[in-house]
Amino acid sequence: MLNNHLTQLLTDLAKLGEENDANALDKQSKYLNITQDTGEFLAFLIKASSTRRILELGTSNGYSTLWMASALPFDGHITTIEGHEHKHQQARNNIDKANLNVQIHCVHGDITTTLKQLETSYDLVFFDADRAIYMEIIADIEQLLIPGGIIVCDNATSHPQELKDFMHYLNQSPSYTTALIPVGKGEFVAYKAA
Ligand SMILES: C[S@@+](CC[C@H](N)C(=O)[O-])C[C@H]1O[C@@H](n2cnc3c(N)ncnc32)[C@H](O)[C@@H]1O
Repeated sequence: MLNNHLTQLLTDLAKLGEENDANALDKQSKYLNITQDTGEFLAFLIKASSTRRILELGTSNGYSTLWMASALPFDGHITTIEGHEHKHQQARNNIDKANLNVQIHCVHGDITTTLKQLETSYDLVFFDADRAIYMEIIADIEQLLIPGGIIVCDNATSHPQELKDFMHYLNQSPSYTTALIPVGKGEFVAYKAA
């Protein structure tokens, strides 16, 4: 269960995200946060799968990161990558406010290059970045994802065409069991055989 402080922070960030994105002049300035029901779904999935180690691609200002952190056990952690300097700083501030900076490691950098420097294995990888790079990075992600691990990809129903090759690759692979969950902007999930 979420504590009151985190619940209030998530409520404030959801409102801020809507206001910011309605007034933003360009796509880069938008937060493009996940929906609240996607946050609830991610929290459910993390708890049900006893996930401890999460990799997030696309932090923005940390809204989805905080949802996922809310479901982690005390020894769990998240590495989250964001290329936009200002949003990375905002995420760090929001994570400080939630007192979750021990569990969350915010990396500022390009996902494609940063991935090559990661050595930890992950139980769950959340894709919520530039969809054009997903096919380029999937081999690196597969190296980092443990057998029995889970991939979650946002925007599967809002942008199916842009994710066509990515979803096809995982759908046809004998190593994965996949499903499309009609929550928020559509969550495509893939379970890697243990
Ligand atoms: C949809 S937003 C993430 C929203 C966030 N997950 C949330 O729900 O709060 C996508 C973010 O990915 C970042 N991004 C996209 N491509 C990237 C890349 N190649 N390297 C680093 N960051 C990237 C963008 O700057 C943007 O902030």
